Amino acid sequence: MSGYNIKNDALHIDNVALSDIAAEYGTPAYVYSAQEITNQYERLAGAMKKALPADRQPLLCYACKANSNVAVLAHLRSLGSGLEIVSEGELHRGIKAGFDPQKIVSTGVGKQASEISECLKAGIHQFNVESLPELVHIQKIASAMDKPANVVFRLNPDVTGGGHHKISTGRKRDKFGLNRERIFEGFEMAKEMSHVNALGLSIHIGSQVFTVEAFKQAFEKMPDIVNDLREAGYKIDRLDIGGGFPIIYDDEKLLNLDAYAQWVNDIIVPLDTEIIMEPGRYLVGNAGVVLSEVLYIKETQERKFLVLDAAMNDLIRPTLYDAYHGIAPVENLDAPRTKYDVVGPICETGDTFSTDRELPQMKAGDLAVIQSAGAYGFCMASNYNTRPMPPEIFVKGDNVSVIRPRQTYNDIIDIEAIPDWIGQKE
Ligand SMILES: Cc1ncc(COP(=O)(O)O)c(C=O)c1O
Repeated sequence: MSGYNIKNDALHIDNVALSDIAAEYGTPAYVYSAQEITNQYERLAGAMKKALPADRQPLLCYACKANSNVAVLAHLRSLGSGLEIVSEGELHRGIKAGFDPQKIVSTGVGKQASEISECLKAGIHQFNVESLPELVHIQKIASAMDKPANVVFRLNPDVTGGGHHKISTGRKRDKFGLNRERIFEGFEMAKEMSHVNALGLSIHIGSQVFTVEAFKQAFEKMPDIVNDLREAGYKIDRLDIGGGFPIIYDDEKLLNLDAYAQWVNDIIVPLDTEIIMEPGRYLVGNAGVVLSEVLYIKETQERKFLVLDAAMNDLIRPTLYDAYHGIAPVENLDAPRTKYDVVGPICETGDTFSTDRELPQMKAGDLAVIQSAGAYGFCMASNYNTRPMPPEIFVKGDNVSVIRPRQTYNDIIDIEAIPDWIGQKE
């Protein structure tokens, strides 16, 4: 798998053995490769460089919902990335990571008042507006603050894209975006608004989109609406074409980036606007693993369970999206193979990473990795079962840095309080 290498029959990230990381920092732990993030950023930026003219290169705004650790953000910022945010919290992370606010775009169907005002205060590049009430809300806050708000309207292209129905966002029935009529209404309303500049459109059809055709279908909705808006007298200076690029979890055939970039060049570039993209998973997904220890091998009449110390609270994708993740031992990769149900310690059957997975034989105390966990992994973790959130560890070359320590039980419990009206049992 990309991002990792095998030396002496053992898994390494860059030059560092994962067994050394486990010995130093314990398990479960998230471990990320900075080099793999760099490689993915350069692959995407390189494909765009090859296909698009120099004066039409897109602003890549990393969708930080995928992995929002400030060190990961700072790394992407150092590569030239901008940022896509969906909350006030992500804005604060972006500022802490040193992003120029003019490279930050704010998206999401439920922007809250404080989120809008903080974004205006920071002076972000744009709001991607998802409804007309939101537009009115932005105008109200912007005028009270006397700050201009740049907005683009998110078009719902009625295109199906995305690897699971829960992460498909471009269908007519989805909560995202506006149809053509509403977008025209939005531009009309914005014309009368004192503090809103309507500058363009955005789309995002879903996540883990495998086919270039789905993107092409969505892009093809753009020229008509852009031309009609221009004919109606509106300026269209920006097109944000979203994210959704897939990564390898199993043996998927990856989207052809060059073909994607060519469609951007053929359909979007002629519209003569600034171009923004919002890649998330693609930049970080294959760069991370959950490093875990085997607690027990439990055999029943029916099954053989590999019980890990990582659980669904650490990585929820398998139970939430039925997602496949590669699993591998950290050492003894060539051991004879056997079939396991790979599970965590949480008290529900959903806490299963994989069923009937053929793996090299392991024993209690061995280390295993759950692969492709760099995106929508730690950032979706919880304290379910009062399990502390695992540490996040960033590796580059020989450097190993803890970028978020393991939570302690005190971290979890000390902020809770017992009201004094709860009595003792007589
Ligand atoms: C508006 C928007 N942009 C970008 C993304 C990033 O998607 P991905 O991680 O698939 O690239 C998302 C994901 O949900 C999104 O909602």
